[in-house]
Amino acid sequence: MNKLRAAITGVQGYVPAYILTNKELESIVDTSDEWITSRTGIKERRILKGEGKGTSDMAVEAVNGLLLKTNILPQEVDMLICATVTPDMQFPATANIISEKAGIKNAFSFDMNAACSSFLFALITATKFVESGQYKKVIVVGADKMSSIIDYTDRATCVIFGDAAGAVMLEPTIENEGIIDHRFYTDGSGYIYLHQKAGGSVKPASHETIDAREHFIYQEGQPVYKFAVTHMADVSVEIMKRNNLSSDDIDWLVPHQANLRIIDAVARRIRMKKEKVMINIQRYGNTTNGTIPMCLYEWESQLKKDDNIVLSAFGGGFTWGAIYLKWAYNGKK
Ligand code: UT7
Repeated sequence: MNKLRAAITGVQGYVPAYILTNKELESIVDTSDEWITSRTGIKERRILKGEGKGTSDMAVEAVNGLLLKTNILPQEVDMLICATVTPDMQFPATANIISEKAGIKNAFSFDMNAACSSFLFALITATKFVESGQYKKVIVVGADKMSSIIDYTDRATCVIFGDAAGAVMLEPTIENEGIIDHRFYTDGSGYIYLHQKAGGSVKPASHETIDAREHFIYQEGQPVYKFAVTHMADVSVEIMKRNNLSSDDIDWLVPHQANLRIIDAVARRIRMKKEKVMINIQRYGNTTNGTIPMCLYEWESQLKKDDNIVLSAFGGGFTWGAIYLKWAYNGKK
């Protein structure tokens, strides 16, 4: 009997309406469209506006759209994982809030945080539940309202990040398709280069932490950049070697959208032609856990059954990894 696998059977993305352009950023911090474009490839990003709006509000848009297009009722969903670094609140899990808003009543749900790698880590966690045979309809949603933890006086970080959400449905299959393999890593020593200093148990919120702007992202760009280029490329090569795949065998590389120069370097390293690399960073920036599902969503109509796809990510922590999957359906034009 064939192995029970988990296949993505639908994908949906969501971005908020407000467009923050490089031009507008020029009026907020000392920067230029030329600097941002040449260093990052980003032209604009989306920002979730509105009092009381959080990550779950974007996530639920993606989840509702996903349920509609896959023709699955909310009560049929067995499990929902939300990959996020910007939960609605410290607890309960944003996944619970999403489930509640989407009418998902028969599922258990939880959040996963591995910084920008959370979506991939969550996808494999969900895969294992589906492969057990016990879970038939599982949603993984990657969503981040990065604008809620960005210091808009820090020109080195505020130009990079944006807000978005994307969700996939996972269902069991006995065909040779779906999620085939993964390689994941963490290196906790890297946390010093990318983290949020206050608001956790070590340094709870206080007047001092607010005055010191410690509730925003702290990033040392250069070390993160160097780490990302090598490790994201290495793990992409590793997943291909493990599965006897050359770049000719891969139909699509879906890299975490952190910086166009990082994406280009990874693509060069695995000898992937530019037209087979999904890139939308110019329009959305780095949306953390929204990047990979948003790419799959925007390219869905071009994807064909049996396409070989490599997903690759890295993030704070450090965390990094790659997934090899075979796409399970033909996209509708
Ligand atoms: O998924 C999350 C993981 N994070 C990342 O992937 C980020 C990885 N790192 C990067 O993408 C890049 O390091 C950045 C885009 C953050 C920065 O680019 P860089 O080429 O590494 O620039 P840098 O930090 O070395 O700064 C070079 C110069 C500095 O000025 P001086 O000291 O040379 O006078 C910065 O102050 O550029 C300056 N600078 C800016 N200038 C104009 C930094 N940010 C800006 C800006 N506009 N927005």
